Amino acid sequence: MDSRKSTAFFLLFFFFHGFFADSVPFAARLTHSMASSPPSSAAVKAGYWPAFGSAVSPPSDAALSLLTHVYYAFVQVDPATACVALTANDSLALPLFAAAAHGHVSPVKAILSVGGASAIASANFARIAANASARSAFAASAVAVAGEYGLDGVDIDWEYPQSPQEMSDYVALFSELRREAGAAGRCLLLTAAVHYSATAPGKTVEAYPVSYPAAEMAAELDWVNVMAYDLHGNWDATATGAHSGLFDAQSDLSASYGLATWLSAGMPAEKLVMGVPLYGRTYNLTDGEEHGIGAPARGVGPGDAGVLTLSEVVEFNGKNRATVVHDEAKVATYSFAGETWISYDDSWSATRKAEYARGIGLRGYFLWAIGFDEDRIISRAGTKSGSSIYS
Ligand SMILES: *[C@@H]1O[C@H](CO)[C@@H](O)[C@H](O)[C@H]1NC(C)=O
Ligand SMILES: *[C@@H]1O[C@H](CO)[C@@H](O)[C@H](O)[C@H]1NC(C)=O
Ligand SMILES: *[C@@H]1O[C@H](CO)[C@@H](O)[C@H](O)[C@H]1NC(C)=O
Repeated sequence: MDSRKSTAFFLLFFFFHGFFADSVPFAARLTHSMASSPPSSAAVKAGYWPAFGSAVSPPSDAALSLLTHVYYAFVQVDPATACVALTANDSLALPLFAAAAHGHVSPVKAILSVGGASAIASANFARIAANASARSAFAASAVAVAGEYGLDGVDIDWEYPQSPQEMSDYVALFSELRREAGAAGRCLLLTAAVHYSATAPGKTVEAYPVSYPAAEMAAELDWVNVMAYDLHGNWDATATGAHSGLFDAQSDLSASYGLATWLSAGMPAEKLVMGVPLYGRTYNLTDGEEHGIGAPARGVGPGDAGVLTLSEVVEFNGKNRATVVHDEAKVATYSFAGETWISYDDSWSATRKAEYARGIGLRGYFLWAIGFDEDRIISRAGTKSGSSIYS
């Protein structure tokens, strides 16, 4: 979700598939496990709900049935006032969103997510966070909106602070949100969506030698959502790449590498939530006979900027009788048919990732985004019964 990919995401939000009803026994088990865990360590199984273009419809009961937390993605700020500025659709959708989450058979926490991948959102955050009175106005407005709509938390999606100064402003913004929430007497969850690695927010250590102040962030935030995806894509499409692979012995571009940087930078495992994408990244193979990870590519394949939702990937695979490969070493799934090659997550890789996250003590996982996974195969994979995965 960085600015290079915003076009793709701004098209993806028009895509929505309905969900099928989920079994009641599952919901009962979820309720039980939430009730029996202390709130500070309760598992997080979150999903972002893209409200960009069809904001007036709330997430379905079925979409919520495998989640503990749902994010309204996104609201923006008015740069003139530094305040959260709801669109007409936001004002209509937020009450429906909160009612759907809270009214669910196993109630789901509803969180307001501010910002997103756009360059405008990033620039607004940079200006507001640098200015104490703007920070205060922003925090007061975010807490007020959360109060007005009965939301349970606020999420900051600033992609990404670009300098040591901006990183320190970023922490100041969280402190101010925490202070405002306390002053308003509201017990709000505070979270942030962050780059996959704590140490190279531009994905090039040389260009952006800036690290997240992870320990300071941990003091203010309930957890961070680590965007452990978009590790490869249309910007490096001369060869195929696993965009959300768990491991990569050859490079730093893997989910496990990124998570390790967060841990060593001082973010406690119980405040780390691993992102799992519900979309694929496509390539056009130079030679259809050469179809491994790292095979030469001419550029991206189907989809805007080479992005397809998981539902579209599954449809493509079926229509084209694609070969699906599970790379055991990388824990990465890909498929190919003819010249088209697609990196994505399926039930196999999502299960392995949820096991890994659980194994290293992470708080849970989040999905970008609800609605991209028609049959909720990924959500189910992460919540399989059994002690090794989030239940
Ligand atoms: C507001 O919602 C309506 C109905 O869902 C939709 O047609 C319209 O495009 C939305 N407008 C914006 C600015 O998102
Ligand atoms: C700081 O923010 C306040 C409130 O939004 C604004 O009035 C003021 O002009 C800003 N100062 C600077 C230097 O940008
Ligand atoms: C792949 O690229 C070639 C050459 O540009 C083009 O002719 C072909 O249609 C592309 N195939 C796909 C599946 O995008």
